[in-house]
Amino acid sequence: MARNLTQLELLIELEPIAASNVDRHLSMAKDWHPHDYVPWDQGRNFAAMGGIDWDTGQSALGEVARAAMITNLLTEDNLPSYHREIAENFSQDGAWGTWVGRWTAEENRHGIVIR
Ligand SMILES: [Fe+2]
Repeated sequence: MARNLTQLELLIELEPIAASNVDRHLSMAKDWHPHDYVPWDQGRNFAAMGGIDWDTGQSALGEVARAAMITNLLTEDNLPSYHREIAENFSQDGAWGTWVGRWTAEENRHGIVIR
């Protein structure tokens, strides 16, 4: 009798597909770092460090683009919760463990650049 897979069973079922895609990704990925793109010399400290806190008046983006960037930043900042779900159920050495570690680092870099 057929039954629906749990989310964990589905992830286990998909691990060979994740493995082939992790291998493909690793063969073509180019490492990058936020300092490659962020003009740090245009930045300044926040108020807690003697500078000025950011406010919307400083943004060069329109209202819609600013809302999209803030929403995206919230997603990037929630990465640890996604990471935990996979890390609790899979080895760090397997395809899902390798993928979630790299994905979390990538999204963290996105958050640094957006912020
Ligand atoms: Fe991202």
